[in-house]
Amino acid sequence: MALQWYPGHMNKAKNQVQDRLKVVDIVLEIVDARLPYSSRNPVLEQIINQKKHIIILNKADLADPKLTEDWKLNFRQEGTASIESDAKHNRLEKLNTMIRSELSDKIEKYERNGVKNYQIKAMCVGIPNVGKSTILNKMVGKNVAVTGNKPGVTKNQNWLKTSYGIDLLDTPGILWPKITDPKVGMKLALSGAIKDKIYPPDDVAIYALNFLMTNYLDRVVDFYKLEKSDIYNHTTAELLMHLTKQFGFKEDYDRGARRVIMDVRNLKFGRLTFDVPGEFYEE
Ligand code: G4P
Repeated sequence: MALQWYPGHMNKAKNQVQDRLKVVDIVLEIVDARLPYSSRNPVLEQIINQKKHIIILNKADLADPKLTEDWKLNFRQEGTASIESDAKHNRLEKLNTMIRSELSDKIEKYERNGVKNYQIKAMCVGIPNVGKSTILNKMVGKNVAVTGNKPGVTKNQNWLKTSYGIDLLDTPGILWPKITDPKVGMKLALSGAIKDKIYPPDDVAIYALNFLMTNYLDRVVDFYKLEKSDIYNHTTAELLMHLTKQFGFKEDYDRGARRVIMDVRNLKFGRLTFDVPGEFYEE
């Protein structure tokens, strides 16, 4: 399923990004640390490679710390700087330092030519709901862009000034993720990056249970107080039915599914990362 992904729309967004690339020194690409692959926009990935570029693994407070380290290593091996952030709760000083270090050659060149306080120009890009507005707000230090829980709310695109010599530009237009691999869609739905209405909750919950049983079996067994036989002797759909009854929702499987999804989002199984570096994705 291609979510809002049609050539006209994406070409427009691509051209807008390309236009603005000419006036910035560096691109800050924000991704969800739980989905460092699935929450990237592939078109963006192609065109921003021409520029200095930092990947911000935001919502790192929700992601598996070990996998966040693995992802940073993976990006480093690909030659791209990356940094984790929890923009909701923390300040972003390390990001400021990293931006300056990535641009040190350029800044030194300007200094040699007598420009003392070179004003850095950065563009923030990312698919909806990765925390772009939250990061802009934190960097600027006041409430500048609308944040909300509705993925895809259009934000203003003006230059924003920070007090530490960096001017920021928001993403022009809306850059949707590209969902050709259904697994990517499931991961985006499970994390709340795309609207709940897009995929049936039972599909997402079954994906979640399979993911948990494969990667975090003890956590799911402990939290739902399951017997191993509940898992091994049943299909995942049957397990979801079992859980729905256990929650007291009788045969309301959609309600049971939504509960499982919320349990994942509310960290009942701890901090989870759904993408693993090197995982194979079909185009
Ligand atoms: P966007 O501009 O990229 O679309 O995203 P936005 O900043 O609006 O953030 C989307 C949601 O993600 C917001 O939650 C925001 O608080 C949350 N968020 C942003 N950064 C982080 C982070 O590093 N960690 C965590 N845990 N959450 C983050 P919301 O539910 O829409 O609002 P609220 O409940 O926080 O008020």
